[in-house]
Amino acid sequence: PIYKGSILKQPGWFVTGYKETAYILKDSSFFTRIPLPEATEKYSHLKQIQSKMMLYMNKEDHRKLRLLVNKGFTPKQIAGFRPLIEEVVDSLLDELIVKEEFDVVSEFAFPLTSLVIATILGVPEEDRDRFRAWAALLLQSIDFSRSHKTLEASDQLAEELSEYFSSLIAQKRAEPGDDLISMLIKENDCTENELISTFILLVIAGHETTVNLISNTIYTFLKHPEQWKMLNENPTLAGSAIEEVLRFESPTQLTARVAMKDTEVAGKHITCGEQLYLMLGAANRDPDVFDEPDEFLITRKKVPHLSFGLGAHFCLGSTLARLEAQIALSRFSKRVHTYNQTKTEIKWRPLTGFRALEKLRIT
Ligand code: HEM
Repeated sequence: PIYKGSILKQPGWFVTGYKETAYILKDSSFFTRIPLPEATEKYSHLKQIQSKMMLYMNKEDHRKLRLLVNKGFTPKQIAGFRPLIEEVVDSLLDELIVKEEFDVVSEFAFPLTSLVIATILGVPEEDRDRFRAWAALLLQSIDFSRSHKTLEASDQLAEELSEYFSSLIAQKRAEPGDDLISMLIKENDCTENELISTFILLVIAGHETTVNLISNTIYTFLKHPEQWKMLNENPTLAGSAIEEVLRFESPTQLTARVAMKDTEVAGKHITCGEQLYLMLGAANRDPDVFDEPDEFLITRKKVPHLSFGLGAHFCLGSTLARLEAQIALSRFSKRVHTYNQTKTEIKWRPLTGFRALEKLRIT
């Protein structure tokens, strides 16, 4: 469940057991988040932005910001996005199903999630293409396998995005709308830098992981035709199917913590200051918790996966991600009875922390 190793020459403990991963995630006073080390040393824009992201904050600073942003993500507010999501999914499918073949990632999942997060934030229509391009590039800056070249590019990108959000904040101050940016400005409880970092975090989180969940769903059913048949016969299984995809092909595979005190996990001595890499994808296949963990079974009764984390940093967007994925799957299965992979090879992106398809062309 726990062993020593390193990622990009950074030593740490790899935690793969479910019980151990859950224990570390829940205990935020013993195990805390830290900003990514290289980024904090050399890259000033990334450093500035990351240091104000709630994902890298701890204790009171984290709690304050999280409570505030959470006001825009209550279940009631997210449920209010259902008609928009349904409309976008339907109009995308109208265009796609008449095509001979299409790419699920760039033509279905990405435009959907992009439009939803842009609407939540209140990004004007004319900026949406630029916004989408930034989002795609941004993910590389938070992955563990990023190179210095990508980090440099990300630093520049972070500067561009900060400038963009700064001017958008000024625009919304003058003319508030019915969106998250206007709401957070009105609350007047955040510094401008905290606001900018929060918006950038939401752009990254809101786009990429959800794109991966939707694409991984279509991919996984392609590989499990008997489960696809079962879903078609019983559409009410869409919700549990999404939970099973979250477990089986977890979009976020890895997160990290640092030990704040000497302690012990599964009989191993952890020294204060050591890094722990929490392998969410592995924990989600722990046989002590899941029967037949390597089987994809959409009828599982309970799927207590760790794909959205646990504890203080539990994913703020989980309700939104689930809603988008469920609507996407339900509508897709209603309108597409059979689909196949084209001759193009399926390619995964070379990322350490994320399970992300580069392309998934289907016919
Ligand atoms: C945090 C996964 C979608 C916003 C997290 C964490 C995970 C995660 C594992 C915790 C990281 C940690 O504790 O170290 C996912 C997955 C998603 C998804 C798998 C989609 C399938 C979203 C969406 C949004 C979002 C749609 C917002 C629009 C956030 C934020 C945090 C977070 C703001 C930080 C929370 C905090 O630090 O308190 N997410 N996420 N996520 N997620 Fe998500």
